[in-house]
Amino acid sequence: MYAQEARIFRAPGRVNLIGEHTDYNEGFVIPVAMDLYTWVAAAPRTDALVHVYSQNLRERAEMDLQHLNLQLQRHWSAYVLGVAASLRMSGAEIGGANLLVEGKVPMGAGLSSSASLEVAAGYALLETSGLSRSPVELAKICQHAENEFAGARCGIMDQMIACCGRANYALLLDCRTLEFQLLPLFSDARFVVCNSMVKHDHAAGEYNARRADCEVATRILAEQMPGVRALRDVSLADLERYAQLLPEVVYRRSRHVISENARVQAAREALERGDPVSFGRLMRESHRSLKEDYEVSCTELDLLVEIAGGIAGVYGSRMTGGGFGGCTISLVRSGAAEEFQSAIAHGYQQATDRSPDIYMVRASDGIREFLV
Ligand code: GLA
Repeated sequence: MYAQEARIFRAPGRVNLIGEHTDYNEGFVIPVAMDLYTWVAAAPRTDALVHVYSQNLRERAEMDLQHLNLQLQRHWSAYVLGVAASLRMSGAEIGGANLLVEGKVPMGAGLSSSASLEVAAGYALLETSGLSRSPVELAKICQHAENEFAGARCGIMDQMIACCGRANYALLLDCRTLEFQLLPLFSDARFVVCNSMVKHDHAAGEYNARRADCEVATRILAEQMPGVRALRDVSLADLERYAQLLPEVVYRRSRHVISENARVQAAREALERGDPVSFGRLMRESHRSLKEDYEVSCTELDLLVEIAGGIAGVYGSRMTGGGFGGCTISLVRSGAAEEFQSAIAHGYQQATDRSPDIYMVRASDGIREFLV
């Protein structure tokens, strides 16, 4: 559309194997980059305008880098222009560019279409300006953009996996230090994602409200234990000791986060020793905790998990991502994975009249230039 030579970049969506709502508590997560991408074609401009066109929505937006007066807004363009603004604010002197965006990560499905858009756009803007930043720096800049310009107080998981994902591996990420370790996936079991087709909306209040509950817990617990900076620093025994000081809801939120961090460590060990049975059990426990203590599941996600539990060859299943809709992830014996897909689609359709999209997880690379 711009009649210009362009370079093409792509960043992946992600699915989180385990470690939900732990990232903004400086805890641990194990996401995988998926082979669903946001694509950005980019060419530099001679002026300071960033011009973006969304192929999906057939809409355009632009911003002048010399007048960064972006308002907080819940519009797709905030993810792109917000990143341009955040890059500038971080000291990266990017120039103007024309960007053509096409997303293949389903939106509102909990597969992180927004982070993949941010990272693809951010990388494209850097590259077309002849600049570079480390993947971790780019992830932080994109998270800043989402927090400040799109109004979602998300953690760092999605941007980190979109930047640092690796084909065939999951990534165990320490969300405090941003150090990560690559973990090979099971050789004889597959992860399968089922989309409930119920759209979530993280920028809506519930996500931010959960974060606020965690901050209340941290504040109260830090008064008793001065070393505490985040729920990451609290054990279940500590939580029980000071339970009376916390409002009941805040206590349950904290119990989820603390127990989930412990599950991530156990899940890492299960992956390392090739033990899908234990991993599956941890997934079921994670779901129960997200449903009962963190209260971010919904009827459709619970139903998908319940149906999966009754299908042969399934080790475990849980909601994945922020919740309130979106997807579940199930761990299934390799030989049973095809059967699983048709059985879960059938069961879910019977119960809800909705036909779920299903994806076999193939772990992919993070942000890349796509060379034709
Ligand atoms: C969303 C956020 C992430 C993370 C998950 C829940 O995807 O963007 O930062 O908090 O929810 O684990």
